[in-house]
Amino acid sequence: MEINPVKGTHDIIADEANLYTMIEHTAMMVASEFGYQEIRTPIIEHTPLFLRSVGESSDIVNKEMYTFDDKGGRSVTLRPELTAGIMRSIVSNKLHANADLPLKYRYVGPCFRYERPQAGRYRQFNQFGVEAIGAPGIYQDAEVITMGQRILLSVGLEDVKVLINSLGDEESRNAYRQALREFFSKHIDKMCSDCKRRLEQNPLRILDCKVPEDKEIIKDAPKMIDYLSPAAKAYLMSVIAILKSVGIETEIDPTLVRGLDYYTGVVFEYHFEKKEGIDDVGALGAGGHYANLLQEVGGPSLEGVGVAFGIERLAYIIKSQMQQNGIHFGLDFYLMGMTDDIIQKNFVLADMLREGGFSGEMNYSTKSMGAMFKVAARKGAKFAIIVGEDEIARKEVAVKNLKTQEQTIVKLEDLENVLHSMIDKYYADMNAAPTEEE
Ligand code: HAM
Repeated sequence: MEINPVKGTHDIIADEANLYTMIEHTAMMVASEFGYQEIRTPIIEHTPLFLRSVGESSDIVNKEMYTFDDKGGRSVTLRPELTAGIMRSIVSNKLHANADLPLKYRYVGPCFRYERPQAGRYRQFNQFGVEAIGAPGIYQDAEVITMGQRILLSVGLEDVKVLINSLGDEESRNAYRQALREFFSKHIDKMCSDCKRRLEQNPLRILDCKVPEDKEIIKDAPKMIDYLSPAAKAYLMSVIAILKSVGIETEIDPTLVRGLDYYTGVVFEYHFEKKEGIDDVGALGAGGHYANLLQEVGGPSLEGVGVAFGIERLAYIIKSQMQQNGIHFGLDFYLMGMTDDIIQKNFVLADMLREGGFSGEMNYSTKSMGAMFKVAARKGAKFAIIVGEDEIARKEVAVKNLKTQEQTIVKLEDLENVLHSMIDKYYADMNAAPTEEE
């Protein structure tokens, strides 16, 4: 009997795994530049943690949690996100005691949500994120949004829109909830059963409904921005202005309320701008300010702000862009030698090149040139480095661009420098390559 992967899960193999590693490393590096320290928390937590944090009115708690009783009869849940676990860890380990605030953590790891699988939506997926707790304010909120944008740029995603909104203070939210209750109670008969429940529990959640007929009704619902207190509005505008001062344009989305119950102030999402041939996978990343979360899970009253990115979604967009630009993962070089003597010398040369930061392989047994070029192509090598008897005598090698088939003779002593500039040019040419329509 063939055993298939569990629905909504996926294996991440070879080039795809390289891409995940690249994204995770880049994100971790950018976050450390902003002073975030790594934290790793368990995948499994006691169920009440998520009921209290993500919230009983959220879709996550209502329909999407992997919850079961363990052999000791305790209800446990595979984490649907990492923020709640980090708050729990701060409390369990008293990380706030005698600490310089804010506490700043970065994290990466798998999450589980029993959602309907579709493009960019899995039941097991990976998040990268950060949380900053204990020094609330406009600059801290702006820092998290800036860091998110830097991560996107660093992994090669430029065409990204930052949507922003505010859920205001308690007073603004109560007034808004009331306005939503009044508006939706006129339409609720025609709406889905989830929305009927949401109207009772938390009418804000109706705004996240994905049912097309309900979305039509939601379009005309009152907007949060019109219910913000002057202070909450001024806070949002200040964050937007700080972001502008570092070159980040935002777009106020008055419908953005986010699907988790713990948000209180500024909320935001990063979306990839629509592009031909690339599916819309929803938000690449999202986050916001939470004033009461730590307290709700048993900690002190410290406010926080955070963001998390879906690595599957980032990987999908980056991969699609690479395919459109004809870029693929592969070795920098494949080193070719026709005799045992040259193979021996090439072993040393390959080692030197790898030390210089290039990725590459070589042939270990003598083969025809044709066979070696086939291997180089299969491995996606950018350049073949060909070492023959004559070249050795002249302390030279031939470097062939396997895309353009251009061949250059390079002095051995210049090889590292020349290879560096050739690889830079290789990528520059790729990015400048005309698209098919042009
Ligand atoms: P979230 O919006 O639920 O927020 O998830 C953050 C990101 O995770 C989404 O923007 C998306 O890229 C990715 N994601 C969510 N669900 C799936 C799925 N089923 N399949 C693939 N990717 C998915 C949070 O989780 C908050 N903890 C973010 C946060 C951190 N807020 C404050 N701090």
